[in-house]
Amino acid sequence: MITCVVGLGQIGFPVAKYIATKGCDVYGFDINPVAVDYGIQNGKFKATIQWSQIPKADIYIICVTTAQVNNRAELTAVFETAKKIAEKADMNTLVAIESTIFPGTSKKIFEEIFKGNVLLVHAPHRYWADQEDKYGVNQVRVIGGVNAKSLETGMRFYKEQLGIPMHTVSTVEVAEMCKIIENSHRYLQIAFAEDLKMMCSRIGMNFGELREAMNTKWNVDLPEARDGIGRHCLPKDIRYVTSLTPSILLSSAMDVDQKYREWLTKQKEEPT
Ligand SMILES: NC(=O)c1ccc[n+]([C@@H]2O[C@H](COP(=O)([O-])OP(=O)(O)OC[C@H]3O[C@@H](n4cnc5c(N)ncnc54)[C@H](O)[C@@H]3O)[C@@H](O)[C@H]2O)c1
Repeated sequence: MITCVVGLGQIGFPVAKYIATKGCDVYGFDINPVAVDYGIQNGKFKATIQWSQIPKADIYIICVTTAQVNNRAELTAVFETAKKIAEKADMNTLVAIESTIFPGTSKKIFEEIFKGNVLLVHAPHRYWADQEDKYGVNQVRVIGGVNAKSLETGMRFYKEQLGIPMHTVSTVEVAEMCKIIENSHRYLQIAFAEDLKMMCSRIGMNFGELREAMNTKWNVDLPEARDGIGRHCLPKDIRYVTSLTPSILLSSAMDVDQKYREWLTKQKEEPT
């Protein structure tokens, strides 16, 4: 079975490497020669920056960059990739979008780019590079399909061939929404910790001690408040949600993070 992974970054590289261990003939494609060289040297798969060198595959997995610009989803790379795949795909080709996308994207790509002539699923990631063995490619993941046959084919690939424990949902939009809401939920928890740390500072209480005490309760798990809500995914994904529909709570959490960063800068400038 020929599988092509498009985008060989933090997600695409481990995906291609994992699939290559499961008896698939894997080709990686990326527009960045550094990512391709890294893939060739460190993964057991072929990789190229030349799309023409990729044979027609049975399965295409999209792991390219997604971003946010002016608080809105920027998905150009996903659409460009789908257009490339459409040149080679047919009714039996499985296309799996693993990049984080905005609700409605999978159906739009299925209808407008593939004209309904492929099998298409969305199987987003919960990847945590710091603990790849536990939270890498092979962990419980959510999957939705644009139709029943797509989901069935996707499950044969992910569950039976790759041995990944997948949780199915009834529509592809639920899978799309689930990913960005999971990250928004995490964002809220951290924003609460940041807010609490600022409150503690105002009333002269030790936040660390308070947090430790709170976390002894069975249903409380307050994260630390560090340097602002960083890395790529959390700040991006919460904005995907608020560009879909307004949320007072999520907007407030983003304000809290902004205020917390300003507060931290002041703390550093005026140490007590
Ligand atoms: N990194 C994580 O821990 C993580 C976790 C969950 C979800 N995600 C999501 O996975 C997706 C990929 O993230 P990442 O961290 O791997 O990003 P990354 O920047 O590390 O890698 C993306 C790769 O895609 C390539 N690319 C960009 N446009 C392309 C195109 N048109 N054709 C081919 N290749 C192209 C880039 O050159 C790069 O190598 C994003 O949607 C991200 O939100 C990432």
